[in-house]
Amino acid sequence: MTKQFILGTPLSSSAIKVMLLGSGELGKEVIIALQRLGVETIAVDRYPNAPGHQVAHRAYVINMTDAAALRNLVELEQPHLIVPEIEAIATDMLVEIEREGLARVIPTARAAQLTMHREGIRRLAAETLGLPTSPYAFANSLEELRAAIDDGIGYPCVVKPVMSSSGKGQSKIDSAAEVEQAWNYAASGSRVNQGRVIVEGFINFEYEITQLTVRAMGSNGEVETHFCEPIGHVQIHGDYVESWQPQAMSELALKRTRDISRKVTDNLGGLGIFGVELFVNGDDVWFSEVSPRPHDTGMVTMCSQIQNEFELHARAILGLPVNIALRAPGASAVIYGQLEESAIAFTGIDEALRVPESDLRLFGKPESFSKRRMGVALANGVDTDEARIRAKLAASKVVPVKS
Ligand SMILES: Nc1ncnc2c1ncn2[C@@H]1O[C@H](COP(=O)(O)OP(=O)(O)OP(=O)(O)O)[C@@H](O)[C@H]1O
Ligand SMILES: [Mg+2]
Repeated sequence: MTKQFILGTPLSSSAIKVMLLGSGELGKEVIIALQRLGVETIAVDRYPNAPGHQVAHRAYVINMTDAAALRNLVELEQPHLIVPEIEAIATDMLVEIEREGLARVIPTARAAQLTMHREGIRRLAAETLGLPTSPYAFANSLEELRAAIDDGIGYPCVVKPVMSSSGKGQSKIDSAAEVEQAWNYAASGSRVNQGRVIVEGFINFEYEITQLTVRAMGSNGEVETHFCEPIGHVQIHGDYVESWQPQAMSELALKRTRDISRKVTDNLGGLGIFGVELFVNGDDVWFSEVSPRPHDTGMVTMCSQIQNEFELHARAILGLPVNIALRAPGASAVIYGQLEESAIAFTGIDEALRVPESDLRLFGKPESFSKRRMGVALANGVDTDEARIRAKLAASKVVPVKS
């Protein structure tokens, strides 16, 4: 398979064209990395002036779950590569597009299809690949949910819509009295109201990590798998608030992490970066889920690695070599909108940037919500403890205000 592109000149007949489906803060950074290699970029999102729209050659607003709209745009733009940045896409259409050879889907259309649905990826990981996961069951009704918990999952457990992200519709419950509320909450948080949930036994982990795993072309023309240093993170209500790299782990836990990550990414195939989420307790490691794309907790790599996760993704998908080396211990801390306003401003930027070895990214989202991620603070330190303190301090200095 010839995967490497001859890079050309954007906006000319020699251009290599890449279409991002989803153009939030992660897509924006992928686009910037592609722009630096002279790639022509097309940013797509469901609302105007999304972060990635602001840095791409062309920007489109469509409903990406609308298969016909998606196909029309691909036929119009004829990109070489389609890079999903989000899960909520008409992935059946991506399969069709890939099959017809209209464009290559990153990493593969099948990977996008399997990972948009908790059932697809969980059954693949646990049942096909035999990877350790939390105990789980699926339910289509409140009665089925109660039965699944009573028949083996037990308490505490976590109830999640089968299609959702960022912790939406997800709750941890400790007793039978909370099941109905969890069911109702899942129905309200589901992206597509499917009325189907997964219930997982609660894993009492010591820490959780993202194992960024890159599938890139080796010099011998074979795909090679590269493992970044593990990223530790803190999630609140299923949404990441803080991450750092490297996370210290036992040798055995690290080996298990990489064995799991290799198995799942080998199966999903293609080229690009994957964020494999795992729970760790001592030497024990459980697979949680995987995103076949850059991961939000991986924003820390913008200060901690020589090539950040977005540059790694850009290179890998173009068939180019990657370098996953750590640059320095680093941390990231999320900056929330705090206000329900459009066109907000940010005060305290100067103070934030006075924190030693710190940096900021403000995503440029047109609308702020109190819990919307509007930016991120980054910092290095002699170790991740120092980096975390600095990143949190820098983030705390940034205060959103009404413009
Ligand atoms: N079975 C479990 N045991 C313990 N904690 C869990 C379990 N499932 C989820 N969590 C906690 O909730 C977080 C979010 O869960 P999960 O990754 O499944 O949801 P998500 O909606 O896909 O979130 P995101 O899109 O941010 O990755 C996990 O990172 C973990 O902190
Ligand atoms: Mg997750």
